[in-house]
Amino acid sequence: MQRSDRERYSYDTHDALQGRPWVHRVFGHIFRGPNAQHGEDLFFRTVAERASASHTLELGCGNGGVAERLVNETDATVLATDISTRQIKQAQARAVKGRLEFRELNAEDPISGQYDLIYGRGVLHHVNFRPVLERLASENLNKGGAMVFREPLGANIMGALYRSISKDDHTEDERPISRADLRWFKQTFNGFWFYPYGLMSLPLGAISSPLFKNPDNPLTKLGHQLDDRVLRHIDVVRPLFRAAVLVIDPS
Ligand SMILES: C[S@@+](CC[C@H](N)C(=O)[O-])C[C@H]1O[C@@H](n2cnc3c(N)ncnc32)[C@H](O)[C@@H]1O
Repeated sequence: MQRSDRERYSYDTHDALQGRPWVHRVFGHIFRGPNAQHGEDLFFRTVAERASASHTLELGCGNGGVAERLVNETDATVLATDISTRQIKQAQARAVKGRLEFRELNAEDPISGQYDLIYGRGVLHHVNFRPVLERLASENLNKGGAMVFREPLGANIMGALYRSISKDDHTEDERPISRADLRWFKQTFNGFWFYPYGLMSLPLGAISSPLFKNPDNPLTKLGHQLDDRVLRHIDVVRPLFRAAVLVIDPS
């Protein structure tokens, strides 16, 4: 079995991958605190700003929530794709004639069509993404087009610990974006930038979860402020954050 076949099998059959992992239930403030919210908002805003009136391709769309929001909030036309038959079946309910189509598709296979924007959330770390992005950039992205992704980063120690103790919440092949990958992005694409989030916000979000009801509280606010300050002053720690918005926008 190839990596992509194993991914399809996992997402078609493992119920744990469909539901919310325990870490979201027990330490929810890591994912709903102001810093995480800022990262998620930045991802969607970066996609939406480049999506208006455009032909847009989503990779690894899962249940189709991001594509549906994009169609509701912009006038983009979206082809949202995923390798999993089960995920695409679930997503079909959100299809909008002429605006939003869902299609079963392996991102590692050649894709037809030209797009102004290609995006995905949590998908690159499930695919052999280097050749995929090079091919998409040369064959499918219109001149002046952009690619936007939101992915976990591999060098974050707490993220690595979580993945090692929580195998059911992950596929056996997923590989968060490494420092070497970030260097590869910089060397390969003009106009690459990334915004990392979730360094101090991760432990402070974990501590805050049992202590406060509201994910926006003094501890998580402190995490957000610290992360913001670290980002502005210490460049070398950028790969150590939990996740990042990755943008390739040569225009
Ligand atoms: C972590 S989930 C993210 C789903 C969705 N983007 C979201 O944010 O909720 C990863 C998704 O990538 C899909 N996937 C894995 N390998 C793929 C491949 N080779 N081509 C296309 N999709 C793939 C999985 O089926 C799954 O839906």
